[in-house]
Amino acid sequence: MSQGHFITFEGIDGSGKSTQARLLAAVLKARGIDVVLTREPGGAPGAEEIRRLLVEGAPDRWSPETEILLFTAARRDHLEKTIEPALARGATVVCDRFADSTRVYQGATRGDLRDLVDRLHDEVIAREPDLTFVIDMDPAEALRRGLARQSGEDRFEDMGEDFQRRLREGFQALASEYPERCHLIDGARDPNQIAEDLAAVVASKL
Ligand code: ADP
Ligand code: TYD
Repeated sequence: MSQGHFITFEGIDGSGKSTQARLLAAVLKARGIDVVLTREPGGAPGAEEIRRLLVEGAPDRWSPETEILLFTAARRDHLEKTIEPALARGATVVCDRFADSTRVYQGATRGDLRDLVDRLHDEVIAREPDLTFVIDMDPAEALRRGLARQSGEDRFEDMGEDFQRRLREGFQALASEYPERCHLIDGARDPNQIAEDLAAVVASKL
């Protein structure tokens, strides 16, 4: 059986990841490709329950260490129940956030915990995407977009613009750390123009 492709979207809150994940999934489906569109934290029933613990409530609800464990638990469930079965049947998985978010949010911005993130990842996840789009944009603009949604899931947005600024730098550094699979994309453009760029990268890389 042919192995499907695993494509992820990363970037700060409100940068347009879910919009672009949706548009890319639609382009691939229109080409007759079997696509599973999913997201983290979540993407499987158990992982969605863990998601609520993570995205709602006060910003200091969890320590960074506890957060790493919860995100990794959710990811393991998502991997077992959704991602691995889809890839095994040859589907292409388009996922809004994956392990890079833990590397940046928990590993680089809330204490020097990257080593713990990496060790846990190697032990219980041990899967990298084939292709990752890192959507780069100004945190002030992204924050305006994100909070305008009023989703009730604003625990990380509520950590403020300085935090989002450190995240942006973290994602830029991550794209340099994994140049083979990561593509840094300018997110401050028309959504359809961004989508065209992404479809061209997918066509040339996969
Ligand atoms: P993320 O998943 O990164 O948080 P979303 O895709 O949910 O971001 O987008 C956040 C908000 O910004 C949404 O209201 C969406 O409609 C809007 N948006 C997304 N992409 C763009 C864009 N390129 N230009 C302007 N607004 C956008
Ligand atoms: P998400 O729903 O993608 O938020 P948004 O649409 O605003 O970008 O993710 C929820 C929050 O969880 C988001 O603020 C980023 C954070 N997060 C982490 O801190 N670590 C992780 O490993 C993941 C997957 C998400």
